[in-house]
Amino acid sequence: MGFLSDALSRIKPSATIVITQKARDLKAQGRDVISLSVGEPDFDTPDNIKEAAIAAIRRGETKYTPVSGIVPLREAIARKFKRENGLDYKPSQTIVSTGGKQVIYNALLATLNPGDEVIIPTPYWVSYPEMVGLCGGKAVFVDTTMEHNFKLQPEPLERAITPKTKWIILNSPSNPTGAAYTREEMKAITDVLMRHPHVWVLTDDMYEHLTYGDFEFVTPAQVEPGLYDRTLTMNGVSKAYAMTGWRIGYAAGPDQLIKAMDFVQGQQTSGAASISQWAAVEALDGPQDHLPRFKKAFEERRDLVVSMLNQAKYLKCPMPEGAFYVYPSCAEAMGKTTPSGKVLRTDEDFVSELLEAEGVAAVHGSAFGLGPNFRISYATSNAALEDACNRIQRFCGSLR
Ligand SMILES: Cc1ncc(COP(=O)(O)O)c(C=O)c1O
Repeated sequence: MGFLSDALSRIKPSATIVITQKARDLKAQGRDVISLSVGEPDFDTPDNIKEAAIAAIRRGETKYTPVSGIVPLREAIARKFKRENGLDYKPSQTIVSTGGKQVIYNALLATLNPGDEVIIPTPYWVSYPEMVGLCGGKAVFVDTTMEHNFKLQPEPLERAITPKTKWIILNSPSNPTGAAYTREEMKAITDVLMRHPHVWVLTDDMYEHLTYGDFEFVTPAQVEPGLYDRTLTMNGVSKAYAMTGWRIGYAAGPDQLIKAMDFVQGQQTSGAASISQWAAVEALDGPQDHLPRFKKAFEERRDLVVSMLNQAKYLKCPMPEGAFYVYPSCAEAMGKTTPSGKVLRTDEDFVSELLEAEGVAAVHGSAFGLGPNFRISYATSNAALEDACNRIQRFCGSLR
């Protein structure tokens, strides 16, 4: 009898975490490394949010909280959905978890039976298939293409739906591509879903606030109110409020699902950290004036990175609408040889040779289920991005 569980054999380590660690190790050895692999804003949490946390500590808000979250936060979440998305939820229809990641976990754990299928458009956030697998479900991938800016098209979605489909996971703006659905694009998807009443929608809106230019964010239940009764709308404070370490995610959905998720969480982590919950109340209810500053900085960086990558030999980089990632294609570099004599056969070869030759850490597209591409996170300074893009141009220029 083996010591480790069969469930463990169903999951892969997170490629983004592996590469970020590799970059850290090289740095510790004295190498000049620029890491473009991390998925978190380089900004600090706004001061008003920090102050709210300090005040909560001083007030003694340091005890266990109700499993689904403190009432003031669940009320703030209900207000947020009404104000920003036009969605009506009672506070009792919301749940607070330890990061957006746990929200998704809870939903899948509470609903999946062996053999249940979950549709995941590729490229996807690395954790979705692993979470589905750990919960005993079967991930069903539907490819997107760069021609469609990595957005799911209605026909392939329709073909992927079977009687066993329980969920579809949507993520707009997307990690890893930054692609975000316009109202029309989202409507084309929700129209398909309306024809299949047994399919539930898990929408990961984590990057809602990070969209650029005049792009207008939409979420499925807002575009198609007919999906309200089978949609879990997930969001969190990690990205828009630079609070990745505070570990607060939340969601709203039908009563029965939220109760089931509460049940799961009650035997897992219980309530999220009390102090972080009070900080999240301030994040949602307090001033939002840091957002234009974050967005302006990210938009400038996006424009810089897309323009410089498109000047690199063999690379093609679409312009994404949001998040802080770009997902260039390195297809034309496949089969080329590096100065050290290595032939590039996969996008994983491309990123590992790039790290080796120029000290730039990016994540290969195959980790997100679609390549040959690679993901760059531009949540770092303009100077570092310019330096990194110059190095990428030099690396691509050196290929023969
Ligand atoms: C698409 C997406 N969803 C969810 C999460 C998880 O967020 P949290 O840090 O709140 O668990 C991330 C974090 O990288 C993400 O990129």
